[in-house]
This record gives sequence, structure tokens and C-alpha cells, in this order.
Amino acid sequence: MAEKKVKVGLVGFGTVGCGVAKLITEEADAIAAKTSLRLELACVVDIDTQSPRLVKLADGILTNDINRLLDDDTIQIGVELVGGTDAAKQIQLKLLEAGKDVVTANKALLAEYGNELMHCAHKNGRCIAFEASCAGGIPIISGIRTGLAANEIRAMYGIVNGTCNYILSNMTSKNEDFPEALSQAQKLGYAEADPTLDINGGDSAHKLAILASIAFGYEIALDDIFVEGIESISKDDICYGGEMGYCLKLLAIGQKASLAARDSSHGLQSTSHEARVTRHEAREKISLRVHPSFIAKDNRLASVDGSFNAVSIFGSAVGQVMYYGRGAGMMPTASAIVADIIDVALGNSATTFRHLCLKPRNQTAALIEKIDNLVTRFYIRLMAKDQPGVFAQVGKVLAENAISISGALQHEGQGPDNTVPVVVTTHPTRQSKVTAALENLDKLDTICSRPVCIRIVDIPEDKEG
Ligand code: HSE
Repeated sequence: MAEKKVKVGLVGFGTVGCGVAKLITEEADAIAAKTSLRLELACVVDIDTQSPRLVKLADGILTNDINRLLDDDTIQIGVELVGGTDAAKQIQLKLLEAGKDVVTANKALLAEYGNELMHCAHKNGRCIAFEASCAGGIPIISGIRTGLAANEIRAMYGIVNGTCNYILSNMTSKNEDFPEALSQAQKLGYAEADPTLDINGGDSAHKLAILASIAFGYEIALDDIFVEGIESISKDDICYGGEMGYCLKLLAIGQKASLAARDSSHGLQSTSHEARVTRHEAREKISLRVHPSFIAKDNRLASVDGSFNAVSIFGSAVGQVMYYGRGAGMMPTASAIVADIIDVALGNSATTFRHLCLKPRNQTAALIEKIDNLVTRFYIRLMAKDQPGVFAQVGKVLAENAISISGALQHEGQGPDNTVPVVVTTHPTRQSKVTAALENLDKLDTICSRPVCIRIVDIPEDKEG
């Protein structure tokens, strides 16, 4: 088959930009042999044209003038790698209006302005490809959109921020404190320059907004997602949770809400008439949340360590599917971007983009389950005065809120000022009841610091037999 030349322009020549330039240059022959497409890097735009880079470009390719890319009609694809939401949005709009298809890794921009950008792309007859925006090199978006197209997606549980996973892994296995683990993650380049969005769960929420919209078929707004980060996690809780059989992960969770409450098997084993009716009635209720989660140590996601990402998805036909790999970094992200460039050039992206039918935002407001209605299990730690009757008081407050204890742990004389850590785990309970109980516990003069509360997420596993 005759080769087709495809000219590509990059905007942003940082770490990922260098990776994309390297792949396009070094793998051009291999890509041509596989696809009949001859990728050519025609133009790279960056405000900094002087600093030395990891990749050497041919003379005349690097410029600080974006019009060189916008005005060149022979360049079909513009790759936006600027990051952030202000300049990047204007760049993407200009690329689309100039008749170029857009490839991007910009999760924050898509999560905040994705709907507006998609409308602009449709209006201009172009497409936006964004595989690299979620979970770096893992082909999760095409996995959901294409590989799982025949399924109703019932739930997804993702470790989608490498920085948080690295920090929690190190706090678990090396007994490091949070600041020590964070500074190590920054040194290794996993965290963004400003790690706030990594550790406060914002980055995971951006990725969940994108993944959930694809999986559930709705325009999702960031406000739909409940977000809690890992900034206040202490290694003591990781340790106590570990003793009770749990491993701590920051999870991004998208679930059909009533399934969370009434059908935690996601239909893997549940075939009763009642369960089927419940699923049908609840189809349109979705719970979207990012929070630290204790999961069983023998769950497959518990073995995802360090900066790796993984997403476990439950589909109506396929059961459980798990995607695993590097969620960040120069070459894994470049791998996803160049895959998108190829898909755009082959015409596949335009087709899938045209058929990406997301129900409009104004139809979704009532469909998002409020966090107060979440039914899950909880880990609660109290620093209690070591004196008679305290455990009974705690039990009484929980009982008054109809919360049933499923496990308990207390170590002798560990806390400051004659306090002991009292840890209880609960049976499935509504979040609003636990919030009320925590307020009451906090008022007891035998409880000496704010109660710590971490959700326990019982992720089902699709197993043989
Ligand atoms: N800072 C992000 C992470 C990079 O740690 O996962 C990839 O989005």
C-alpha cells in the first residue's frame, strides 16, 4: 500500500513534547510499516526556543510563533501539550477553527471545558483525541469506548494518580511520613510542579470526569464528583488498617449508585429477579467520588504499587476487566499521544468522535447520587482517654446512629496524654449517619482529637468458580 504522509504540529515542547518528538522521529519507519502512514513532525511551537532539550529537532522546526502551525494547511493534526486551562483552551479552539484535528493529554482542560471544546470540534467538522489524558500509557479510553462497547458499564475503580499511589505505597512499605514520601515523589518527577492537584484528589477527579462520561454516556461536570485527598492521611492509620486486612489507595470511583447500596456484586453472581429489577430501576443513578479507600489486601488493585496506575471495570457482559500500566512519564504518555495521532490520521478518531453521544449536562443533575446517600463501610479511629467506660460510650454513639460495628482494634498505651487509639470498622452504613455519629463522638470529653474516618470499599472480584 502506498504511504500517506501525515504532518503533525506540536504546541508545548516540555517533557512529554520531547517524548512525542522522539517517538515520531525514531519510530517513523516502524509506524509506516504497520500503518502505511508516514508521520512527519512539521512544526513545534514553544515560548522557549533556547533551552537545551532531550531531543534534537531539524533546523527550522522549533518556533515561538503559533501562526506557523495555524496557517499551514498541510498540517492536519495539532497536539496541545501546554497543560493548564487558560492558554491551552485558546490554543485548542484556534487549532480546531484552523481546521486541524486536536490530540491532547490535558485532563484538567477536558474535565472543565471538554463540552465546549467538543462542540467547537463538531461545529468545525474536526475531532479531539484524548487517550493520554487518563492513566498515561494505558489505553483505557479506547478500551472503554471500543473494547467494551457492547457492555453497560456498571462500575469502575481506578488508581489514576501515580503521585498519590507512590506516596501511599511508600508510607505503607517503608513506613515513611507523608511529607517525606511526597518529597521523594517530587524528586522522581511523578508529581506535577505544583503537587496540590495530585494530593488533594483534583487530578484524579479530572480523570474520573473524563472516564465516567465515556463509560456512562453523560456530560459529567467536576461538581458532580465528591473529592477528598490524601493530605491528612497518617501512617498510623495505614498501619492499623493493615492489621485489619486492608491496604490504603486513593480511588476514583464511578458506580451505578443503587448498585453500591444494594448489589455490591455488580451482577457478577446476582441473578435474582429482585436484583435485576433493582438494577433496572436504578440504572440512571451514578455515584462519582475520589477518596482514600481501604480495600482488601487480596484485591488485585491492592498489589498496584508505586507510580503505577490501574483501573478495574465491571461490564454487564464481560464481568471484570483490569487495565494496568504506567500512568505518567515522558514515554508512556507519548505512547498514548502517538497512538491518537495514528488513529486520527487513519480516520478512526473522527468516526468514534462523531458517535460519542453524551447526554447533555442539563439532563444529568438529578442523576448524580449525593455523597450523603452513599452506603459503604467505614474505618473510624478515635484517640480516647484510657479510662473505664470509654469503649462503651463509643459503642453507644454508634448504636444511636444505627451503625453496626464489624471489627475493633485497640493498642495499649500508644497515644500522648494517656490516650489510646480506638479503631472500629463498620458494616455498610449510610454516609449521613456516620457524619452525624462523628459529630457526636467529637463532642465527648473522653475523645481527645478529631475522629479519623476513612471509607472501606469492598470491591468485588470476578474469580474462577
Ligand atoms: N501527576 C500525575 C500523576 C501525572 O501523578 O499521575 C499524570 O497525570
